[in-house]
Amino acid sequence: MRGFLFALVRAARSRSRAELQTVQRRRPSDLAQRFSHSAAAPERPSFGIAFDIDGVILRGRSPIGGAPRAIRRLYSEDGTLKIPFLFLTNGGGVPEHRRALELSQLLGVNISPTQVVHGHSPYRELVDRFENDLIVAVGKGEPAVVMSEYGFRKVLSIDEYASYFKDIDPLAPFKTWKVEQETNNYMSAKVHPSYDVYSERVKGVFVVSDPVDWGRDLQVLCDILSTGGLPGSGKGDQPPLYFAADDLEYQAAFPSERLGMGAFRIALESIFNQINDHPLKYTSYGKPNPFVFKNAATILEKLVMSMYPNSQTSKEVKDCQFSTIYMVGDNPEVDINGASKAGHPWSSVLTRTGVFRGNDNDPQFPADTVVDTVEDAINYILEKECIR
Ligand code: G3P
Ligand code: MG
Repeated sequence: MRGFLFALVRAARSRSRAELQTVQRRRPSDLAQRFSHSAAAPERPSFGIAFDIDGVILRGRSPIGGAPRAIRRLYSEDGTLKIPFLFLTNGGGVPEHRRALELSQLLGVNISPTQVVHGHSPYRELVDRFENDLIVAVGKGEPAVVMSEYGFRKVLSIDEYASYFKDIDPLAPFKTWKVEQETNNYMSAKVHPSYDVYSERVKGVFVVSDPVDWGRDLQVLCDILSTGGLPGSGKGDQPPLYFAADDLEYQAAFPSERLGMGAFRIALESIFNQINDHPLKYTSYGKPNPFVFKNAATILEKLVMSMYPNSQTSKEVKDCQFSTIYMVGDNPEVDINGASKAGHPWSSVLTRTGVFRGNDNDPQFPADTVVDTVEDAINYILEKECIR
C-alpha cells in the first residue's frame, strides 16, 4: 500500500513537472521548427538524446531496462536512424569503432563510431602536444591501442612498460594470474622494449580506463611521476597526468557499486602526496565537465545534419539548433549534475537501474525527470516530443 501511494505521488509529481516543462519549452519558434516542413526539406528533429552506458544501457555486458527494444524505437522500420542520439559514457578502454560494433551487436541496431563518446575521446585533442613523446597508457582493455589510434606515436601500456623494469613490482611473483597473462600475451613474443625506456623519460601519463592491477599501477605511477618519468632515477619534475573521468563509483554487474577511476585517483594522489613534498598535479576529463556536454551537442548537431542533409535548418546551422538534448543517466553526481551545469538545451532524465535507486529524486543533484528504466525514459521523451 505504502509503495502504491509512493508510486501515485511520484506519478503525479513527474506528470505535473513534465506538463510544466512542456509548456515552458514549447515556445512559438520550437513549434514552428517542429511542424514546418516540405517535400524538399524534410523536418529534422528539434531534440537529441545522450545515453549513459553503465547502469542505463548495460550492466557488465548485459543489456538492462529494455534497452534493445527501446533503442530500436529511435530507428525507422528499414533500420535507418530517425532520432539523433549518441552514447556519452565515462567508460572506455577500446577504440570507439570497436565499442560501436559491440553495442550494435548487443542492441540489435546499427551504431556508428561517431555515436560513441568515451571518457578518453577528448585525449585526441592532445596529440600535437605529445605526438613524438614517450607516453604511458593505463587501464583495462587496450589503452595503448586507443592512444595509438588517436595518433600518439610512442605509446606503451603500463603492463608493457612495467614488464621492462625488473623487480619494479615486488609483489609480482605472488600474482599467479599475472604470470599466466604474461605467458599468453606480449611477454612471450616481445622481450626487448620498442623504445629505450631505460633512458627515455615518460613525458605523459594517460589513465584511459579503469586500472586493473591497482597495487602495481600505484607503485609504477608513483615511480614515473616522482622521478620525472624514469623509474629508479632520482626525484624529478612530474610529467603531466590525465584521467579520462573521475567517477568515484559506477554500477557494473555486482549488486552494489564498484570503485571507479575517481577512487583510483584519490588513492594515487594521497600516496603521491605522502612521499613527495609537492602535491600531485592532474587533469580529469569526462562527465560532469560542461565541455563534455558541449562537445556532445556539437556531435549531435553534425549527426542530425548528416541524417537530414536537405533540411532548411541544416543549411542555416551555425551553432546548436536543438531546443532540447536529453541526458539519460543513472549517476546523479556525474550525469545529472553535468547536464544541469551545461544548461540549455540540456534536460536530465535519471533512471533507477544503476547508481541511483531512490524513490523520489536525488536530493543533491535533482534531475528534471526520474523514471525507472531507459525504456521509460525513451517513452517519456518520444511522448513529450510528439513522436509515435
Ligand atoms: O568505468 C565506467 C564508469 O566509470 C562509468 O560509465 O557509462 O556510467 O558513464 P558510464
Ligand atoms: Mg552510468
